[in-house]
Amino acid sequence: MKILILNGPNLNLLGIREKSVYGNRSFEDYFDELKEAFPALELSYFQSNTEGTLIDKLHEVGFGDYKGIVFNAGAYTHTSVALSDAIKAIDTPVIEVHISNVYAREAFRHKSMIAPHCKGSIAGFGLESYRLALQYFERQKPKRIG
Ligand code: DQA
Repeated sequence: MKILILNGPNLNLLGIREKSVYGNRSFEDYFDELKEAFPALELSYFQSNTEGTLIDKLHEVGFGDYKGIVFNAGAYTHTSVALSDAIKAIDTPVIEVHISNVYAREAFRHKSMIAPHCKGSIAGFGLESYRLALQYFERQKPKRIG
């Protein structure tokens, strides 16, 4: 089962950026652990700091054989009508994830533009937010044909 983990702006700096909020581990390092933990999932990972590139990626994987997308849209979560529209447009279910508990932070982080079009949202568990989202997809039974 193909699953994409999609990270938005500034998440390439995990392990370097605001360590007290986001931890001291790079996503690449954590991704290796996830691949080992979910051998039944065909995991791929993509990161971009650019809104349009993230939209192109959602379009690319959103109609085909990918069964799920785990998406941390970073700050675009709180601002992007275009990403919200892209998630609404595609067929593949998206789970919104955040490393930090956005509801315990500044008021502008309490609003998610993308949440209404996501299957669900997970926030505040550190990098383990991604693992929790993958557990949901892992438990989905493949659709029977015929
Ligand atoms: C974040 C939370 C956002 O508010 C912030 O802009 C990020 C990271 C998180 O994973 O906690 O870049 O999405």
